[in-house]
Amino acid sequence: MIPFGDLSREHLELSEELGKIIKDVCQDGWFILGKKVEEFENVFARYIGNNVYGIGVGSGTEAIHLSLVASGVEHGDYVITVPNTAVPTVSAISFAGAKPLFVDIDPNSFNMDPTQLRNTIIKEKKRLGKKLKAVIPVYLYGQSADMTPILNIAREFDIKVIEDACQAHGTEYKDCKVGSMGDYAAFSFYPSKNLGAYGDGGIILTKSPAEAQKLKMLRNYGQEKRYYHKIIGFNSRLDELQAAILLAKLKYLDVWNNRRRDIATLYSQEIKNPLVTKPSQMSYGKHIYHLYVIKHPNRDGLRTYLEKEGVATMIHYPIPIHLQEAYNDLNYASNSFPVAEKCVKEIVSLPMFPQLRDEEVKKIAELINRYDGTENPRF
Ligand SMILES: Cc1ncc(COP(=O)(O)O)c(C=O)c1O
Repeated sequence: MIPFGDLSREHLELSEELGKIIKDVCQDGWFILGKKVEEFENVFARYIGNNVYGIGVGSGTEAIHLSLVASGVEHGDYVITVPNTAVPTVSAISFAGAKPLFVDIDPNSFNMDPTQLRNTIIKEKKRLGKKLKAVIPVYLYGQSADMTPILNIAREFDIKVIEDACQAHGTEYKDCKVGSMGDYAAFSFYPSKNLGAYGDGGIILTKSPAEAQKLKMLRNYGQEKRYYHKIIGFNSRLDELQAAILLAKLKYLDVWNNRRRDIATLYSQEIKNPLVTKPSQMSYGKHIYHLYVIKHPNRDGLRTYLEKEGVATMIHYPIPIHLQEAYNDLNYASNSFPVAEKCVKEIVSLPMFPQLRDEEVKKIAELINRYDGTENPRF
């Protein structure tokens, strides 16, 4: 079976180095908010851009949630995002007490369509006024959204921008890495991400030192110093073990991202089936292929066939958020977001991880080329 992802192949390369690092942290005996967290926050922020501050938190979800809280989002406010994201983008909005408002996507990038964003704001601004607080563009599959128009629209309507960069560690937009363009940016270190921890973890980036200070309190019970609580806060901290592991793994991130890009190029060269739409690399940036997602009109048939042939695939994501049971109360009808809803029916994510071998990529492409679009393909 060719696995969809396989972290054990990565661990084989790193086990000695990481084993020592883990032992050192344990011997040090300091597990929460210590030197490793601070060092990782600084090094990761510098990797993304100049004059950026990092605040290590418990997960990507928490990074979005705390950014929303820091930006003043309160009960009854509204936050705009896309319907074809991982559910945590929207759970974070709900946990901040706000309601999500969705806008449709661009079919090539799979990301927020700036024209739809403008139309939605113009339509809703009269009704919602200052309750419309923020927008969360998501960099789905490792590719940036078209940020210049999104940032301009946000500025024009005075709403905050929180970049959901949870799938985009090292992604570029024009000349900069994503994570330094909005008011805040959220990254996830879920193990399978391009930079993954050995458990949960996340980081918030911001260019404002005052916001960084506030976020450091918010993640740690609202305390400025121990047992002196200035604001009401949470417990959401990146721990020392994860920070030490991430610090070691960050050295390899560019190499791994380049390998993912090479794998994507190989897939795109080798897949010749005319029914397949291959992912677009938008001219405005650099894709880091957290996922390699193709479209096929008989996606379910293709998946069943690949499964039988020993190739694991996944769907990111099978149901858009506005049609998920948990969000029934938002009362969105189906076909509210036709582009996203059409994509959802056709997408399939192929195996993608840096240790995937060229022979495996070629084998997958060859199988896809042999699939004629029916449930029982010809051989
Ligand atoms: C787009 C997106 N947003 C948010 C998250 C949440 O990150 P985490 O799983 O670390 O909470 C993820 C990760 O699953 C994600 O892919």
